Amino acid sequence: ATGSSPGRGALIVFEGCDRSGKTTQTQKLFDCLVAMGRKVELWRFPERTTGVGKMIDEYLKSGNNLPDEAIHLLFSANRWETAPLLKSKLAAGVTIITDRYAYSGVAFSAAKGLDLNWCKSPDIGLPLPDCVVFCDLHPEKAAKRGGFGEERYENIDMQLKVYHQFQKLRQSDWKVVDASQSVDDMHEEIKTLALEAMDHCTSKPQQRSLW
Ligand code: TMP
Repeated sequence: ATGSSPGRGALIVFEGCDRSGKTTQTQKLFDCLVAMGRKVELWRFPERTTGVGKMIDEYLKSGNNLPDEAIHLLFSANRWETAPLLKSKLAAGVTIITDRYAYSGVAFSAAKGLDLNWCKSPDIGLPLPDCVVFCDLHPEKAAKRGGFGEERYENIDMQLKVYHQFQKLRQSDWKVVDASQSVDDMHEEIKTLALEAMDHCTSKPQQRSLW
């Protein structure tokens, strides 16, 4: 779909380990699509502003200690509580770019030792992304970018496990982008992928669901 032509919006999901450039790249893609006059919104998960999101935020800042299963379900609930809005936006022709989605949900919990299929089940039925951009940066390289932050999962051992889980989850239609290249080169590659995904939505009018 170009310009103002009808059709649904695309769900474009960015995944990857911490410090792989997802936030920078989602923002750049958003700015670029806005400048092109596209109907687009920038989302992120966890969405920390909701009731569930506040509990997740507290957990990540190590304020509360929940069993791994419980925090996993909260991350999923955080997607479900925003899913009606997400679906209606897509149906109204708005493209949604999101910084993380259900793949992070599964990768982080499976990295802690939870069963992969158990981890996938609460997200069954969420909107299926039209494009998954995997920002590929090995955690050893990510660590050299000035270290990880203060939050719960931001350490090399956890990130290595998460990276390994992402490799297991990776599907043939994922767009794996080398995140060690320059910000601008990476953006150009992603822009092409995003425009392709948006165009395909006219020929794929039905929104499908995970997994
Ligand atoms: P953020 O740094 O992108 O805000 O994400 C916060 C952390 O939460 C990050 O380490 C990834 C983790 N996470 C999960 O464990 N499960 C999820 O479902 C999501 C979306 C993120």
